Amino acid sequence: MGLTRVPGLLFGGDYNPEQWPEHVWDEDVRLMAEAGVNMATVAVFSWSRLEPRRGEYEFGWLDRIMDLLHEHGVAADLATATATPPPWLVREHPGVLPVDAAGTRLDFGSRQSYCPSSPVFREATVRLARVMAERYREHPALAMWHISNEYADHTLECFCEESARHFRRWLSARHGSIDGLNAAWGTSCWGQHYTSYDQVNPPRKAPGPVNPAQVLDWRRFCSDALLECFELEKAVLREVTPDIPVTTNFMSILHGLDYWKWAAAEDVVSDDAYPDPADPASHVAVALSYDLMRSLKRRPWLLLEQAGGAVSWREVNAPKPPGMMRLHSLQALAHGADGAMFFQWRQAKYGPEKFHSALLPHGGTASRGWRDTLRLGADLKRLAEIAGSATRAEVALVLDWESWWGLEAPESMPSNRLKLKALLQAWYEPLHATGVAVDLVPAGGDLSGHRVVIVPNLYMCTGEQAGWLADFGGHLIVGPFSGVTDPDDQVHDGGAPGPLRGLLGVAVDEFWPLPDGLVQRVRLAPATGGEPGHVLSARTWTEWLRVEDAEVLARYEGGDLDGQAAITRRGTVTYLGCLLDDVTPVLSEVLARAGVEPVADVPEGVEATRRGRYLFLLNHATSPAKVNLREPGKDLLTGRDLSGPIEIPARDAVVLRTDPQPTGAQPGGTGTLTDADTDVPPTEGER
Ligand code: GAL
Repeated sequence: MGLTRVPGLLFGGDYNPEQWPEHVWDEDVRLMAEAGVNMATVAVFSWSRLEPRRGEYEFGWLDRIMDLLHEHGVAADLATATATPPPWLVREHPGVLPVDAAGTRLDFGSRQSYCPSSPVFREATVRLARVMAERYREHPALAMWHISNEYADHTLECFCEESARHFRRWLSARHGSIDGLNAAWGTSCWGQHYTSYDQVNPPRKAPGPVNPAQVLDWRRFCSDALLECFELEKAVLREVTPDIPVTTNFMSILHGLDYWKWAAAEDVVSDDAYPDPADPASHVAVALSYDLMRSLKRRPWLLLEQAGGAVSWREVNAPKPPGMMRLHSLQALAHGADGAMFFQWRQAKYGPEKFHSALLPHGGTASRGWRDTLRLGADLKRLAEIAGSATRAEVALVLDWESWWGLEAPESMPSNRLKLKALLQAWYEPLHATGVAVDLVPAGGDLSGHRVVIVPNLYMCTGEQAGWLADFGGHLIVGPFSGVTDPDDQVHDGGAPGPLRGLLGVAVDEFWPLPDGLVQRVRLAPATGGEPGHVLSARTWTEWLRVEDAEVLARYEGGDLDGQAAITRRGTVTYLGCLLDDVTPVLSEVLARAGVEPVADVPEGVEATRRGRYLFLLNHATSPAKVNLREPGKDLLTGRDLSGPIEIPARDAVVLRTDPQPTGAQPGGTGTLTDADTDVPPTEGER
């Protein structure tokens, strides 16, 4: 089953025909067909053009576009057009406009100018979604619904009175009586005891630090409030067009929205990713978010937006050098995407994004960008057979949004330097560099098929989550400052690691964050398999541990913690009480014990992933790379049969179709790999 009814891999981009005179449309669709575009995202910001006055609709132009697309073999990822309310709505009802934490109402003139809790806004979106669904339900171009756009991009939260009332309703559903809230929020601190919900507000700007439990509930509420907006529109689409899959485009690893919850509510996971071409390591960070996208439903996903070249919203917007746009697109496929789409089809003539790159640049078909577009379109056709193929990973990284929100509460932590994305990346980078596949899992998620589970941090941890980790039974690595608080952000009795204490066999006597720039030496014991006495370095965070029932793998050397335990192990559970500059020695030893193998042997700069029988080798380096293939196969990009030592040119790739593997023989795999592995089983509850 594909992501949509369109066969093969999806290719195309956001298409904004309303920004162009009609005579340009014919050229657009002709060139789309020439480039092999098979999907266009339309009407994302079109509300004011579709409903220019309340209840008056002008669908003629969109009808013509939908027809034209269909005539040229292009399917529509049709937006419900609700990403920006029209001017008439916000002027009629100024309460639709969002209010910031300091109480300033933001004006119209950009996009996402709405309060997520506004009943007027919600009602108007649902009405428009219904009109759209009823109008296009039978249209042959309609292949997917695109609700709103990048929720929380500009508007994650609104602090107006309407939002305050909504927040209070949400709080009373969570905490029951006001005393429930008082207990959960610890309002005995700083004299915040409430006697009625009417007294409770969003965490608006206050004289000093705001109660972190209030901020935490606000984070949960804001994610839920936007999800309600999504669900309201989705319910209408489901009712009118039950067979059309629904998506909303995610923003990689976004702090504000709990994507585990969000992904469960949509049919297709789609993502927008904008790695900075000027950053030579940006392909590593983006690979982590691609692995998250694949893991959200444990099935293929869609790269719905990326840039063909430069974006327009950085301080300096670097273009993509030759080969990079193609390589980055192949990278998304390598990590489980079933399509590579772009913002946007035709480069804009006006507005804030007129310098943002596009598949069809200002220079038209004479440009290098256009030649890249044609090349990628042709490559994606060659790769069509990979659509639907599954990735298997034996290593899981735990990512839990609630714990993340707790960890990064402002102004009340032992150190503000612990940032979850960086903690995840510290483990992901060496795995990525060696070609070990990684899944992301939520705390409490499915660990079947994983041999190694890494918890970079689980600041907030319940007894059930601790039990889930204890039940895993494989090789577990837990990072520092975990098991500290409960879901109300209250410190567990006895302190950290709270419910993880029995599993880890250690207690944290005192957190020992390090000032910026200070380096703490950590000496590994020979037992780790590293060189005897190998010295590592830690920065930012250390802990004074009391070792209760664990062996000590490494001790601090010098400094305040000289001689204290830094890394411990109990059975197959390794605990790090510090942030190492490089986790590789600890990680490789655990991977070796667990028998986890990379999917290929690759030199620095080459990324290796496997989807079913397809091996992706991506050379991100600016010079050619040599790879020794473990198994022969056909390179789908060139049609050549390859085996043994090969050379991959700079910023180029090989996508090798290998023979289906016999039982147990998949490099890096756990079980049987047959042709059946290329079919992704639908997850529970999917249509
Ligand atoms: C995304 C957005 C698009 C476009 C793009 C530019 O965040 O969804 O509409 O603005 O960025 O990079």
